[in-house]
Amino acid sequence: MSDPNFLKSYPEHVAQLRKSMPESVALEKAVGGDFATVGKLEKSLLFSLGLPADGVLVDVGCGSGRLAVQLRDLSGLHYLGTDIVPELLQQARKLCQRPDWRFVLTNGTEIPCEAESADMVCFFSVFTHLTHEDTFRYLASASRVLKPGGKIVFSFLEFRIDSHWEVFDGSVRNGNPGAHLDQFIDRDGIVAWARHLGLDMVSFFDGDKPHIPIEGEVEWENGLVMRGVGNLGQSVAVLSVPNKSRREAGPVAAAFST
Ligand SMILES: C[S@@+](CC[C@H](N)C(=O)[O-])C[C@H]1O[C@@H](n2cnc3c(N)ncnc32)[C@H](O)[C@@H]1O
Repeated sequence: MSDPNFLKSYPEHVAQLRKSMPESVALEKAVGGDFATVGKLEKSLLFSLGLPADGVLVDVGCGSGRLAVQLRDLSGLHYLGTDIVPELLQQARKLCQRPDWRFVLTNGTEIPCEAESADMVCFFSVFTHLTHEDTFRYLASASRVLKPGGKIVFSFLEFRIDSHWEVFDGSVRNGNPGAHLDQFIDRDGIVAWARHLGLDMVSFFDGDKPHIPIEGEVEWENGLVMRGVGNLGQSVAVLSVPNKSRREAGPVAAAFST
């Protein structure tokens, strides 16, 4: 059984923002702001990790379309975005104007997609709000929907990155029982999850070090400019589904390929 808290806390967070500022600003802020910059970095990251331009991408917790809007001109790309907040999904659908794409409301940790149908499943800033158990459930679900060789890409917060400390410190200082969770995950846990799910651990990227190749430059709301290469702030983990014969043989010790 999933932690029902996420069905309450994130919608409340969005409702609060929508009460206190213009709708379009609230829907961008609800996913963390820096709408264009983060969307461009997320897009570049997925392509740098091998997303085919005519592939199938599942964007779990797609929010108001920060990533999707950057992808909307890719006519060959097949896209499924899921979220638990209807207003965010509606905004994503409106911004993209892609009648062939699916934006689906969910309420648990199952991905509404056929088995072995996706090339990549991404979770940007989603596991940061879930319990470890629900993250593991989502990884199992992603593993089911991915084709052999498909990849899971997710961002996360961790104690080894100094700049993540302020998020934890904020939770300590302002602990608010109504607020959504700011969850940290350690790499040992991710490696263990991969092993238990029969997934290969491909790579980790430190959140505070540039690793995403970008065309030109992006500018953050705080004035920071990233040229040629950038980073999201959160760390990134990449896992992959083994090829068919390995998958059929069942879980093995997770191999680190980099
Ligand atoms: C910080 S926002 C990030 C949105 C988007 N991934 C992006 O990078 O712009 C987190 C998103 O996760 C969604 N979310 C929270 N819990 C979820 C769950 N269990 N399943 C799917 N989405 C969830 C929230 O509604 C919100 O849209």
